[in-house]
Amino acid sequence: MREFSEDYLERTREGMWDDSREALEALALDSHERILDVGCGTGELSRVLAEETPETTDVVGCDADPTLLAVASAGDDPVTAVAGDALRLPFPDDSFDLVVCQALLINLPDPATAVAEFARVSSDLVAAVEPDNAAVEIDSSVESEGNLERRARRAYLDGVGTDVSLGADARDAFEEADIAVVETRQYDHVRTIEPPYCEGALEAARRKATGAGLADDRETMLEGELTETEYDDLRSAWRTMGRDVIDQMGAREYQREETVPFFVTVGRVRSTDRTSWVDGSTSTPNDV
Ligand SMILES: C[S@@+](CC[C@H](N)C(=O)[O-])C[C@H]1O[C@@H](n2cnc3c(N)ncnc32)[C@H](O)[C@@H]1O
Repeated sequence: MREFSEDYLERTREGMWDDSREALEALALDSHERILDVGCGTGELSRVLAEETPETTDVVGCDADPTLLAVASAGDDPVTAVAGDALRLPFPDDSFDLVVCQALLINLPDPATAVAEFARVSSDLVAAVEPDNAAVEIDSSVESEGNLERRARRAYLDGVGTDVSLGADARDAFEEADIAVVETRQYDHVRTIEPPYCEGALEAARRKATGAGLADDRETMLEGELTETEYDDLRSAWRTMGRDVIDQMGAREYQREETVPFFVTVGRVRSTDRTSWVDGSTSTPNDV
């Protein structure tokens, strides 16, 4: 199982869903009473779900990583957190009426198996919020940054063993799991760095200048076609770019905008006789 740090999740989820929650509309958050967030990590999405639901709604987070679960269930805004594997959820059939995940399927070798398990514990909706990491866009005042990030991303995508560019294709996993997709909607998570720089932005710049951020993904990159020499060249150019970022920050000139497209796929669980939908209708719902 790929591991994530608390720091990584807080950094990459910063501001997510703060600008607009329209893409979550099809989850009908005000009309569900028992919601499960699978692969909840530090609980970033669980808290958004809790904010959008009536006080009487239970939102439960589930994750296989006990360290992240401890973070999710601590602090001022704790999440009800349960340890468990997405492929064998520790809940009886139909325990929830909405089961959702965010950036979980991209980390699983067989997303459809997880989605089928979501359907087992949901009596109504299943939803997945998954990024397309091949379509990330960077606009930076440091000229080399966009190009180097593209090179690093390509090498990572080539070496990683799961489909981290799943995005809207999550619907294939839903269909394979016999779940009728009712909607797929895009949400662009835009992260902007500009003066005054927060501590997180300063730390990200330091990680570029030392090459630490790139080194975290070295093994994955070398699993693909990138050779050690090509990795060393990339790292050297990366560190130069990082020093340029720090110089521009010193002059308060550095600006960066990153756009990560996420896709919200929502499906309705079929009733057990597999001939009609849980809501009683027999027609196939259409995409919106
Ligand atoms: C990229 S993180 C996303 C965390 C959170 N959903 C968010 O968007 O901030 C993926 C999460 O899935 C969890 N995970 C990966 N494989 C899992 C599995 N088989 N069962 C349960 N959780 C899993 C990881 O521990 C991690 O917390």
